[in-house]
Amino acid sequence: MGPRLTTAILCIAAATALSACAGSTTDPAVQQRRAALAPVPLPQASEQKGRDYAGIHNAVAFHPGFVSGSQPEGDEGFQSLAAMGVRTIISVDGAEPEVEKARAYGLRYIHLPIGYNGFDEERRLQLARAAQDSIKDGPVYIHCHHGKHRSAGAAAAIASTLGWQTPEHGVARMKVSGTAPNYTGLYACAVDAAPVAPAALDAVVADFPSRWKPSGYVSGMVEIDEVFEHLKEIQAAGWAAPNHHPDLVPAAEAGRLADLYRLLHTDDVVKRKGAGMAELMQDSNRRAQILEDLLAAGEKDKARLNDQFKLVSASCKDCHSRYRD
Ligand code: HEC
Repeated sequence: MGPRLTTAILCIAAATALSACAGSTTDPAVQQRRAALAPVPLPQASEQKGRDYAGIHNAVAFHPGFVSGSQPEGDEGFQSLAAMGVRTIISVDGAEPEVEKARAYGLRYIHLPIGYNGFDEERRLQLARAAQDSIKDGPVYIHCHHGKHRSAGAAAAIASTLGWQTPEHGVARMKVSGTAPNYTGLYACAVDAAPVAPAALDAVVADFPSRWKPSGYVSGMVEIDEVFEHLKEIQAAGWAAPNHHPDLVPAAEAGRLADLYRLLHTDDVVKRKGAGMAELMQDSNRRAQILEDLLAAGEKDKARLNDQFKLVSASCKDCHSRYRD
């Protein structure tokens, strides 16, 4: 290796070290910002109702110092978390976390997205390891988008995996968060989360990203197409799981569609094509979100569901005719 290259690598190493310090808990500006906040109490693990704070909704403790809730909104949301003494935020949502905003308040992000149908064993162990390691630094906040379904399911599974509580208690806490009963995959993850041996957690590679790598536009569209096919089958089965595909959860599929639009909305392809496409993407997200809300609430009126699904289908055609090819 020539001296030039060595110097370049050393510079990169120094720059990395510096950026790791900026915004860390030892940065005086961050310490001052945290110290200036009036402390607010954390939610308690015995409370039977979610708490709201500025920029934070539906905060429910699953264990002392381990709280599930909504995505922090604006600076206010991160201020509320810092005022609670939180040090680490775990996001299980698909969207990219606001890592810099969090860092300004001495909050570290760990991003481990999960689906509405639950998560696999690898993800369970990663989530448990992330929570176990970070709670040593102070309270941990885990969020998805609304803080009702996915973050609650993940929080319940984590707490049982770490032996903080029983799976039954985890399920009871999910109900406090308001997890809809039809998210059967999330409930199953909570019920099946047996404690694991310390060696199994030690074996997890604990180098967790603050931003999970997005999967790209075309693969996003392919996934959108797959979810859309599922929804068509669900509609044909009268808005229930189709016989040949009993594992499909109607609300979860609609939620996944809304999520995929939300993720692709910030993709470079959308940015290149301009504001018109970004608006269509947001509108498509809202249409899918309304369908999810109806299904999650157990809407029985099939005509109402069909009408909403017609709007969802129209958004594919509108956008393709304007922006595809
Ligand atoms: C806001 C715009 C927009 C919406 C809404 C949208 N699409 Fe697309 N879709 C695109 C664009 C742009 C491409 C072309 C991507 C490329 O090849 O770069 C595409 C490509 C695709 C592809 C081809 C992917 C491939 O293999 O190249 C499929 C399949 C698809 N869309 C399905 C759907 C379905 C189903 C829906 C509705 C549920 C939908 N899309 C909604 C913009 C959209």
